[in-house]
Amino acid sequence: MQRVIYFLMIFTCTYADYPALKALLSEKGLRGVSQMMSVRIQSKLKTSAIPEVRGRVDIGIGTVDYTLSNMQVVQCSMPDPSLVFVEGTGVSVEVSQLGLGITGSWRTKFGIIHDSGSFGLAVYNIKIDTLLQSGDDAGRLSISSVSCSADVGGVDIQFHGGASFIFQPFVRHFRGQISGMIREQICPAIQQAISELERNLQEIPVNIPVDQFIYLSVPLTSSPAVTGQSFELDIKGEFYSRSSPSEPPFSASAFEVQYADNYMLSVAASEFFMNSAAYAFLRSGVLQINIRDDMIPKSSPIHLNTSQFGAFIPQLRTLYPNMEMQVLLYASETPLFSFSSGVIDIHVPAAAKFSAVKPDGTLVPLFTLDVDCSFNGSAQIEKNLTGAFEMKNLTLTLGSSEIGDFKTDSLKKMLVLAVKMFVLPKLNAALKIGFPLPALPGFSLINSQLLVKTGFVAIFTDVKDSLTGL
Ligand SMILES: *[C@@H]1O[C@H](CO)[C@@H](O)[C@H](O)[C@H]1NC(C)=O
Ligand SMILES: *[C@@H]1O[C@H](CO)[C@@H](O)[C@H](O)[C@H]1NC(C)=O
Ligand SMILES: *[C@@H]1O[C@H](CO)[C@@H](O)[C@H](O)[C@H]1NC(C)=O
Ligand SMILES: *[C@@H]1O[C@H](CO)[C@@H](O)[C@H](O)[C@H]1NC(C)=O
Repeated sequence: MQRVIYFLMIFTCTYADYPALKALLSEKGLRGVSQMMSVRIQSKLKTSAIPEVRGRVDIGIGTVDYTLSNMQVVQCSMPDPSLVFVEGTGVSVEVSQLGLGITGSWRTKFGIIHDSGSFGLAVYNIKIDTLLQSGDDAGRLSISSVSCSADVGGVDIQFHGGASFIFQPFVRHFRGQISGMIREQICPAIQQAISELERNLQEIPVNIPVDQFIYLSVPLTSSPAVTGQSFELDIKGEFYSRSSPSEPPFSASAFEVQYADNYMLSVAASEFFMNSAAYAFLRSGVLQINIRDDMIPKSSPIHLNTSQFGAFIPQLRTLYPNMEMQVLLYASETPLFSFSSGVIDIHVPAAAKFSAVKPDGTLVPLFTLDVDCSFNGSAQIEKNLTGAFEMKNLTLTLGSSEIGDFKTDSLKKMLVLAVKMFVLPKLNAALKIGFPLPALPGFSLINSQLLVKTGFVAIFTDVKDSLTGL
């Protein structure tokens, strides 16, 4: 029993991971969603097929069977729906004053008399109230409609062609019938649209490939948190190596983000998000580079050969005179990021394995240096995500040596020079151009701001719908 409890504890502890990624929608964001919804609903209405309507109406001298078909929405007027966060549940959606202009064809059967023609139908003051509940279905966002009510203010119908002049006067008799039929179709149609959305949500993969080496795991860690002012998604946000996925030797910690009410969306990523990416790259064997002398610019004062290194390591000149050298530089452990107000620190534990290259190309191992390097920097969003880093500290120790002991002071000076003169300028030039923030297809981020806080970075942004330009 004790063992069972012990395992249960471990299981629940590892399962209840803290999220490394959070996304918060503010009320301003919800207003944006409402505008986008309005445009999408109108265009959807204009392209959807409306099922045929059949009915019968008593005109005093008998009953007329009628069929309305080929119906199409040709006009649609709709103020933006009112969307409101409902604490603990989701979002209530209220559409009012929706007006539709529909055209179609009519057929009637009155005894043995068949007749047909076209019609124009105006439906006004449609009102829809629905409450959407958000939840977590095995790590995926789920949406369901918990209540729905619909009302139709009125309808007007104009028949054309055939003997429509006979039927037109009876419209008032079955106006109520038609508006009732329309009303009854609204909530099932909404239910169907929500089910379709839900099916699409359940098909979103929880593991997103990033590149050939790593993927990002994005299941929800808990149900969406809905307050009166915001909607928050807590997402695992952990990167894994595709070739050898495993948990890193460090874990995520809790962090709190305040939604910013003057931005639509806030997205925050903790140190763990970045560090798991570094760990995944390390596991994939990407964090290493083999440096040969021909990769170093001719103009560089530093070259990889035993004559030059002989100045710091005298025994090289006698043991391996006039030979080229090669360095395998690799991260010996996970490079770790840490965030504190405005500052990004990166600590890179690395090792550099030096070899001499014999004329026939075989390598003679010489020595390995352990290099501990830390950088500090900052990041901003202008159009792109950009940044700049500088070296804070570098320590260098001789890890192992095949050629005996030597002093590393001058080597260190040379390495610091190499990092400052060649590595960082290149890195910073690339970071100055930066890269665009990822956004969902069809959307772009505008007015974005990045803040580095203790333990996490947050991006506050507005979202622009490329379809509607809103
Ligand atoms: C070694 O590097 C030094 C300094 O760049 C250069 O002057 C020298 O010609 C190089 N020697 C060989 C054998 O490549
Ligand atoms: C790194 O830290 C130093 C000292 O705290 C600071 O002067 C410098 O601006 C920082 N560099 C960057 C790129 O943020
Ligand atoms: C650089 O790192 C070493 C060892 O980690 C530490 O003792 C030293 O205080 C650091 N120097 C600075 C300026 O941070
Ligand atoms: C943003 O980044 C991309 C990719 O690095 C680059 O091609 C583009 O020029 C950058 N845009 C700006 C405005 O710097």
